[in-house]
Amino acid sequence: MRLLVTGGAGFIGANFTHSWANENPGDQITVVDSLTYAGSADTLAPLGEAVELVVGDITDAALVDELVAGADAVVHFAAETHVDNSLTGPSAFVQSNLVGTFTILEAVRRHGTRLHHISTDEVYGDLPLDAPDIRFTADTPYNPSSPYSATKAGSDMLVRAWVRSFRVAATLSNCSNNFGPYQHVEKFIPRQITNLLTGRRAKLYGAGANVRDWIHVEDHNAAVRAILAGGRIGQTYLIGADCERSNLAVLQTLLEIMGHDPDDFDHVADRAGHDLRYAIDSSALREELGWAPAHTDFPAALAATVDWYRANEAWWAPLKDAVEAGYTERGQ
Ligand code: NAD
Ligand code: TYD
Repeated sequence: MRLLVTGGAGFIGANFTHSWANENPGDQITVVDSLTYAGSADTLAPLGEAVELVVGDITDAALVDELVAGADAVVHFAAETHVDNSLTGPSAFVQSNLVGTFTILEAVRRHGTRLHHISTDEVYGDLPLDAPDIRFTADTPYNPSSPYSATKAGSDMLVRAWVRSFRVAATLSNCSNNFGPYQHVEKFIPRQITNLLTGRRAKLYGAGANVRDWIHVEDHNAAVRAILAGGRIGQTYLIGADCERSNLAVLQTLLEIMGHDPDDFDHVADRAGHDLRYAIDSSALREELGWAPAHTDFPAALAATVDWYRANEAWWAPLKDAVEAGYTERGQ
């Protein structure tokens, strides 16, 4: 198999590339990544020559065409991904998420290449806090709230249109909030872990009642592998691990794991348009492809993630001060 992974120097793409390289040592794996602030060649360095990293932009049609021509399948992770950044600078989101996905689609259309498009549950907007029985399914109408989720929703629509109009062989997946190794310190869980590790205080937006549905990155990627192997072309699969927690509850679990008092954090300015609750019904994926999450003990998986950040300070420390300076400027 000749596999092209876009965004493979970022959090989820790098974890995917590590597992694929370990499980399929004979495969040719190429990562294309423009190494934005969120991507790092260091993350792929342990794989040595098992992976070729091409530093380039997915909006570069000539480069993308050449790379897709040499691939049997493309797994498309590359995107601008942080909601807070999309509120202060949406332009990069339109470029990478919309124009970038369009560029990939045109290339796979020309070359007849299999594509799997990675997306988020945030395309469905948010759910009320007081209706625990309602969860997102593949039939939930799209209703994105932020520039991030709007551009991801648009990218999903482009993929669906290219399947229908041009018979591109693509599948899609929309996953809930990931955590695990190599996640950028701007995101909620690694930000709090590294705040505590550097003597800062943890920071909770607003009251912390907003709910996210957490999944370990390895479980997300196992589902992606199952979809690549057996998913139906044109189908959207929702990936989630039934792990809804309020932000306050996640933070308090983390504080306990790291030996802090439960109220050892600051409430900071809330996010504009902050989505209340995400929750995924992944029963269709489980029934059709037999996937199930393995990391179902959330406190244990969180503790292992804390251990990873403790052991890999050299990976995240160079990023930390600049990220916190940005948050301070925004009152967060
Ligand atoms: P990330 O921000 O950690 O990594 C994104 C990677 O894409 C980076 O390496 C970056 O350099 C690269 N990139 C960005 N724009 C590019 C461009 N124009 N050309 C080439 N490379 C570019 O993101 P992540 O958390 O790993 O997310 C990966 C994918 O998974 C995204 O599509 C995201 O929408 C989706 N997703 C993420 C989550 C989550 O909880 N993190 C949940 C569901 C879906
Ligand atoms: P985030 O990791 O940015 O993911 P998303 O917004 O895509 O779900 O944030 C997860 C939740 O945590 C979200 O409700 C915002 C909140 N949050 C905080 O309370 N404090 C923080 O420092 C950050 C970064 C996020």
